[in-house]
Amino acid sequence: MNPDSSLAGTTIILGVTGSIAAYKAADLVSKLKQRGGEVFAVMTLAAREFIAPLTFETLSGNPVYTDLFEEQRQFSPVHISLAERADLLVIAPATANFIGKMAVGLADDLLSSAAMATRAPIIIAPAMNTSMYENPIVQSNIKKLSDMGITFIGPESGYLACGYEGKGRLASTDMILSGIEEILRT
Ligand SMILES: Cc1cc2nc3c(=O)[nH]c(=O)nc-3n(C[C@H](O)[C@H](O)[C@H](O)COP(=O)(O)O)c2cc1C
Repeated sequence: MNPDSSLAGTTIILGVTGSIAAYKAADLVSKLKQRGGEVFAVMTLAAREFIAPLTFETLSGNPVYTDLFEEQRQFSPVHISLAERADLLVIAPATANFIGKMAVGLADDLLSSAAMATRAPIIIAPAMNTSMYENPIVQSNIKKLSDMGITFIGPESGYLACGYEGKGRLASTDMILSGIEEILRT
């Protein structure tokens, strides 16, 4: 039993998108769970190219969702039921593409539909190549979403998988955890 149960009684939806940093989200799920949080991972199709759903399923102890249309046998669509259950939606890592979709209000997959449907606070932890991150389109999308009350954590500077040295690294698990705990405390 972990003595730190700071997230007991909370439900966190963790959105994982198609970044090379997707594997780091596994550590985040594990630490959220160790702190007592109930975690449901939602992966974009691109995220599944980088890490297997089984990893998140095992670490969270919950099913992993990707497909908007897969679970329609249930009365309530998954994107709505997850959106309503969430105390917090965390998207880590968040791609330039996903941030762009949110900024213009697209809801064309399970994660973007859940993000549109939830009234819970949203944290976005971007991860991408420095040139992508510094692209004025990405910066403008981040500003727009920040102005709407979405919390951005990171990215950090450092070595990037594409060989660059610069800003774009996913914030550390500890930084994301601190942000989550702070929002859930308020
Ligand atoms: C090897 C590889 C690594 C990638 N890493 C990133 C990344 O770190 N950040 C990013 O924004 N896009 C990255 N991409 C591009 C995204 O996967 C692509 O934009 C995709 O459409 C994102 O889909 P999603 O936002 O629905 O997950 C990468 C692509 C490849 C092939």
